[in-house]
Amino acid sequence: MAEIVFERVTKRYDDGHLAVDALDLRIEDGEFLVLVGPSGCGKSTALRMIAGLEEISDGALVIDGSVANDLSPRDRNIAMVFQSYALYPHLSVADNIGFGLKVRGSDKAAIRAKVEETARLLELSELLDRKPGRLSGGQRQRVAMGRALVRSPKAFLMDEPLSNLDARLRGQMRAEIAHLQKMTGVTTVYVTHDQVEAMTMGDRVAVMNKGVLQQLDAPRMLYDAPANLFVAGFIGSPPMNLLTGTVTGVGESLALQLGALSIPLDAAALDARPGVARYVGKEIIAGIRPEALVLAPNATPAPGRLDGKVAFVEDLGANLLVHVDLAGAAVVAAGVSEDGEELQSARTRLRAVLDGTLPVRKSDPICLTVDPARIHLFDARTEQAVLA
Ligand SMILES: Nc1ncnc2c1ncn2[C@@H]1O[C@H](COP(=O)(O)OP(=O)(O)OP(=O)(O)O)[C@@H](O)[C@H]1O
Ligand SMILES: [Mg+2]
Repeated sequence: MAEIVFERVTKRYDDGHLAVDALDLRIEDGEFLVLVGPSGCGKSTALRMIAGLEEISDGALVIDGSVANDLSPRDRNIAMVFQSYALYPHLSVADNIGFGLKVRGSDKAAIRAKVEETARLLELSELLDRKPGRLSGGQRQRVAMGRALVRSPKAFLMDEPLSNLDARLRGQMRAEIAHLQKMTGVTTVYVTHDQVEAMTMGDRVAVMNKGVLQQLDAPRMLYDAPANLFVAGFIGSPPMNLLTGTVTGVGESLALQLGALSIPLDAAALDARPGVARYVGKEIIAGIRPEALVLAPNATPAPGRLDGKVAFVEDLGANLLVHVDLAGAAVVAAGVSEDGEELQSARTRLRAVLDGTLPVRKSDPICLTVDPARIHLFDARTEQAVLA
């Protein structure tokens, strides 16, 4: 098992493209760390540098206390599971799993024992004689993992291993991989652009954008306390609503002025982020999660309420995703979508997740409230969270 440390690791490709920019990251021994971010942010590059498949331009990659920059991939004993888990089609499941051991010249009985043990762990015991062509996607995925696992690697690297699977299987495999990692305790770095995978699987999640680490935290912290606007917009589905505005008032009686809308900040809200007092008269961005919005008991506009008209409703069963055209507030570019595209700016449309049993219909007037302590605030210029 291994501890993997990036010390200001930079990767500049030959064409000059800066793919990873001075990355500082410590992956603890036995940890399940997820690297997440939009397409092109440098996730695979970072992973490939751990594996030794990509040269490091600057900084140090330290594995178990030794600089590994120049170590050949073979000497790192790190297993990589790719998106396309190329199995040998003409070999049985058992021979696929045992392939690496056979190449290394282990004896037959030892290989058999190791393969059987691994197959038990992965619930593949019944399938050892089958050929990959007759396996489901998830079973093939498990064989690929088994093949990596028999080598008893120091660490596992996985690059979007589930992206070829359908949604149901993906959900199942997500749980299986996380469980397997807990059982084996092998340090694992898992790359995905899917924030649901990131949130459900990782002990900690490193969010990257444009080659730069944005935040490294437990999933819950990324959700509750995003460090900047990028993380706020990237983590959470549907994404956080972001509104431009200013802070008004004096002393203890402050309010958020969002367009024509004024939301008083109560004691709890000021307690949560005392730093807001420094923003009186300055531009801020307020972030409101769709699930933090609550339907007001009647549709009468009142101070602090967000009123508007229902543009349309997506019925998700348990919940309604209600799109509201706000009267009087300016909604800004809602961060960045999962594929990294900037969303169109200057919309006044808010997303609210409401209980599925509520009678909300298209074109209805609607009034929403939000607990001001649940509003995230960001410096409009630096895009950093306003906290202390
Ligand atoms: N061999 C290369 N030469 C030049 N640029 C490269 C090379 N490989 C990757 N890049 C660039 O480096 C950046 C990071 O690429 P990388 O593959 O690490 O992204 P990623 O986060 O894994 O994206 P995805 O989610 O699409 O897999 C991208 O802008 C990419 O175009
Ligand atoms: Mg990639």
